[in-house]
Amino acid sequence: MKKIVVLISGQGTNLQAIMDACARGVLNARVAAVISNKADAFGLQRARQAGIPTQVFVRSDYAGNAAMDLAIGDYIDAIGADLIVLAGYMKILSAQFTRRFQGQIINIHPSLLPKYPGLNTYRQALEAGEREHGTSVHFVNEEVDGGAVILQAKVPIFAGEGIADIEQRVKEQELRIYPLVIKWFIEGRLQLKQGEAYLDGQKLPPQGYA
Ligand code: GAR
Repeated sequence: MKKIVVLISGQGTNLQAIMDACARGVLNARVAAVISNKADAFGLQRARQAGIPTQVFVRSDYAGNAAMDLAIGDYIDAIGADLIVLAGYMKILSAQFTRRFQGQIINIHPSLLPKYPGLNTYRQALEAGEREHGTSVHFVNEEVDGGAVILQAKVPIFAGEGIADIEQRVKEQELRIYPLVIKWFIEGRLQLKQGEAYLDGQKLPPQGYA
């Protein structure tokens, strides 16, 4: 059975969806460990509740980002993880880390990439007067939110809505699409080749599977 390691910093609702999909047998995989860069991340409690090992790596314990990422990488290698899933991990991974695990790291980002990489995507979309927003699952490379997009989900923005309304709609979609992409990967259907995402041997378009 394939092993997944999930990196979190906060609530862990995506983590929960992934653990549930494993428990239900939707994913022929198990979450072998949950890593957090925040000791108080609620997602750690979710992992412990499910009997999954947790490990906290805090930046202040290391000389630099690269040293911390080296330790995280060694931990992941010791587990022998097949896939590294970033699920609300709010710290930028070093280029050494992303190169070390090239093609094995995926992230979910709350925007229709390449629009709005980085932080505060909901506020930016609202301020720009967007009529739609969404979320993207992508392979991770050294560019922040810059790797090949695998799958996106769009949601409408209605007049008068605030961040919380849109966030809730986006989150619903995330819980649906992230386990699906993980399933593709686990089944060996999804690969990264020369920086491009391939599903069933077909190169995916820039906006991912459509
Ligand atoms: C998710 O909405 C995810 O898209 C976002 O953090 C949230 C984590 O929620 N990720 C990023 O902003 C990464 N740049 P969760 O902890 O409840 O899964």
